[in-house]
Amino acid sequence: ETKIVTVDPKDPDRHVIEEAGRILRRGGLVAFPTETVYGLGGDGLNPKASGKIYRAKGRPSDNPLIIHIADSDSLNTITSEFPWQAEALADAFWPGPLTMILQKSSKVPYETTGGLDSVAVRMPSHPVAMAVIQAGGGFIAAPSANTSGRPSPTEARHVIEDLQGKIDMIVDGGMVGIGLESTIVDCTEEVPVILRPGYINQEMIQKIVGRVKMDKGLLITDENVKPKAPGMKYRHYAPKAELTIVEGESTLVVRRINELTDEFRRQGARVGIIGTDETAGQYRADVVKSIGTRKEEESIALHLFGILREFDEADVDFIFSESFRTPQMGQAIMNRLLKAAGHRIIYV
Ligand code: TXA
Ligand code: MG
Repeated sequence: ETKIVTVDPKDPDRHVIEEAGRILRRGGLVAFPTETVYGLGGDGLNPKASGKIYRAKGRPSDNPLIIHIADSDSLNTITSEFPWQAEALADAFWPGPLTMILQKSSKVPYETTGGLDSVAVRMPSHPVAMAVIQAGGGFIAAPSANTSGRPSPTEARHVIEDLQGKIDMIVDGGMVGIGLESTIVDCTEEVPVILRPGYINQEMIQKIVGRVKMDKGLLITDENVKPKAPGMKYRHYAPKAELTIVEGESTLVVRRINELTDEFRRQGARVGIIGTDETAGQYRADVVKSIGTRKEEESIALHLFGILREFDEADVDFIFSESFRTPQMGQAIMNRLLKAAGHRIIYV
């Protein structure tokens, strides 16, 4: 049975945190909020706990986990090399939505790293995450707290949907802050490489370390170019309905989506649309949802995963979405949306 407890996200109840800590130290699993998405935590230095995480998520065991820490000293325990770029990035962005890939120490079991000699490390800034990590022994492996293949959870009810009955505890700290998973930077290469775009974007990283590359697997949609982060190769976030992105100048996009909708509905299909506060009123379809306003790209990032989940309950066969190449987080948003769409995109 899964215990579900609600806490104040800024000042979580000490007794709840102590109980979460006890569960984690015994090798159990606790889901908790971070500033990016909810995580499914287990003791990252305990191979049995890592095994449980894979089983609860239905995740392939070659897909490594991120170890979450609550202080910089913990890095020495789990890594064996710490290049200057990693130090500079940690200074600039930790605690925060950045994960770094570093050479692992012998303390980190291969069960946690999916057999790799490197380890992913992140120090989150969410007060509940910080408290749970400390209480649980300081090294908490935590993938996103969703069933493998579903959108990452941005609210506790998403975690409940996917994992109730499969884990020991869910700490409900309300909605997360960002809504997209952390930026992953591989610091084992001479020039750091972004393996997964996130809130911390390429320009912000460049300002700190000078040179930084994007993983080839992110830029090219060629099936044969495999991304370096093992998890990025899996079909992800895919809604039950077939999702297509329509990109171009706004009035043209609205017109084309309405034409496509009419055509599909004439053939008896049910159609859903992902628009914005600016355009939602101009669409005619079975279900129209606004993801947020284009004036605040943060709101678009925050609502993307939730809206994909909502469409799974909406009983539609096809979904058309506008494209969101916003200035700061556009790369991260479009990385997730394109995956959800299986890279189906129409340019108008
Ligand atoms: O924001 C986040 O990062 C959230 C919260 C809970 O912290 N966690 C998260 O974990 O998104 P997960 O497991 O869903 O995604 C981790 C990604 C996967 O794509 C995985 O393949 C990659 O990180 N990864 C982990 N260790 C790696 C390593 N040693 N080398 C390359 N990629 C790695
Ligand atoms: Mg995930």
